[in-house]
Amino acid sequence: MSTQQKALFLPSKQGEWVIGTTEVPKPGPGQLLVKVEATALNPADWKIQVYGFFLQNFPAILGSDAAGIVEAVDEGVQGFATGDRVLFQGFFINNPQATFQQYALSIADTTAKIPDNISFDEAATIPVGLATAALGLFDQYSEGSAKLFPPWENGGRGKCSGKPIVIFGGASSVGQYVIQLAKLAGFNPIITTASVKNTELLTSLGATHVLDRKLASDALVAQVAAISQASIEVVFDAISLAQTQNAAFDILAPTGQVVIVTPDQIDAARKAAAPRKKVVSVLGNVNAPGRREAGRSLYAKVTELLEEGTIKPNRVEVLRNGLAGIPAGLKRMQNDRVSAVKLVVRPQETP
Ligand SMILES: NC(=O)c1ccc[n+]([C@@H]2O[C@H](COP(=O)([O-])OP(=O)(O)OC[C@H]3O[C@@H](n4cnc5c(N)ncnc54)[C@H](OP(=O)(O)O)[C@@H]3O)[C@@H](O)[C@H]2O)c1
Repeated sequence: MSTQQKALFLPSKQGEWVIGTTEVPKPGPGQLLVKVEATALNPADWKIQVYGFFLQNFPAILGSDAAGIVEAVDEGVQGFATGDRVLFQGFFINNPQATFQQYALSIADTTAKIPDNISFDEAATIPVGLATAALGLFDQYSEGSAKLFPPWENGGRGKCSGKPIVIFGGASSVGQYVIQLAKLAGFNPIITTASVKNTELLTSLGATHVLDRKLASDALVAQVAAISQASIEVVFDAISLAQTQNAAFDILAPTGQVVIVTPDQIDAARKAAAPRKKVVSVLGNVNAPGRREAGRSLYAKVTELLEEGTIKPNRVEVLRNGLAGIPAGLKRMQNDRVSAVKLVVRPQETP
């Protein structure tokens, strides 16, 4: 195996993406080296490049979703061997753990084997979306969570039976995993917003009602009230624009919780008028400090959930030219031209 590999670099804050070479990293304690066969694009990747936030050290490698083949295993790691097909979440504050490269390091206890019914491309759509959904609703160890009991743990299936949930942006990658985990937890009705054309997909995942995302906020609040007799204790806003966050806040019962995925943009006056409503900001990364315990509990069950079809990956669109295809894909995401599909590249196909 070569000691050098190709990677997509962000050379400086708000710089232009460039393909370069870097060393293939070596696994440290508790880590695996994975040959990345597929990596998916996420909004965070374009937002960091365009807005210049979050990262301070350059050149940086981004990318947080990966699927591939275990190439090397740290000697202390149990349960994984070279040749295993795995999926894992990258962590781009540390270049060797980022996934826009041909080889990356993964932490063994938050890595899952990919069952035979799932391709590498499909597996790469899972880590970020699933983590954000799971940690936002079911992380018992973090304040950045609704702290509901995890449906993947023993006794968790159906625990929220008969309770309503509202999910803004059901067709987003995160939203699709929220719908599926909500179904597993027993929520009913599962009400979501999306483009009408995505209704069939979202009902196949478990949504009971799909409302047009173009509805004005007051019309949306009225439709939700007409669907659910019970008051809404949980809303997940997988889009988290100012407009959706405020509508989500309005839908909540006086003691409800709304999970948001971008910084809080809810009007101060609304909050003052409803002081017992709780706003929960999720950090959807199982590698982040404070998130690893829930991450380990989730990853212990990911293979089984995929194998039995309880969790289905997002639809995939594979972009050409490996890592070199990422910048154009990120532009498409930025321009809101991605609907109910995850953009995926195969780093080994980089020219
Ligand atoms: N906090 C965290 O750790 C974290 C982690 C992951 C993602 N995020 C954030 O979560 C958001 C979603 O990420 P993602 O990867 O899931 O996005 P994505 O899959 O790229 O989102 C695309 C989808 O968004 C839907 N959409 C856009 N505007 C909408 C609106 N006003 N109402 C309803 N649906 C709308 C579209 O639905 P239709 O096709 O039906 O129109 C489209 O399918 C992003 O802002 C991202 O930065 C945060």
